[in-house]
Amino acid sequence: MEQHDAVDPNEEKRQEILDDHRELGDLLRRIELPEDDATARRAQVVELRFVLARHFAREEGGDGLFEIIESRAPRHSPRLKELSNEHRALLSDLAVLSSRLDESVADMDSELAGFVRELRKHEKLESKLLIDALCGGD
Ligand SMILES: [Fe+2]
Ligand SMILES: [Fe+2]
Repeated sequence: MEQHDAVDPNEEKRQEILDDHRELGDLLRRIELPEDDATARRAQVVELRFVLARHFAREEGGDGLFEIIESRAPRHSPRLKELSNEHRALLSDLAVLSSRLDESVADMDSELAGFVRELRKHEKLESKLLIDALCGGD
């Protein structure tokens, strides 16, 4: 008997979502630390752009976070639409920040901190909806 038959695809998906959020959280914590090295800071912003685009695509993709919430708690549909719009807005804000990577690190840091705050707010609401959907349902 093959071992992979025993793996629950939903469990795999949930694990992927958790891993994704953990990776993003680690990166945000690094970005929140003071950084004097402009090259290192710029590399973090480039990495964040990549990680975030992939993260949002997974959340909105088939069997992703949004589908899980929607299937278990359809009442959250309007909020999922808002979160999806926030994905677009956050990526667009980050693209603007990235286009200014040549500016001094000090100038970028306060804007980056503002961006991270917005992103954390977004992630917090998402987690709340997921917990509510998994524990409460409709
Ligand atoms: Fe999201
Ligand atoms: Fe997320």
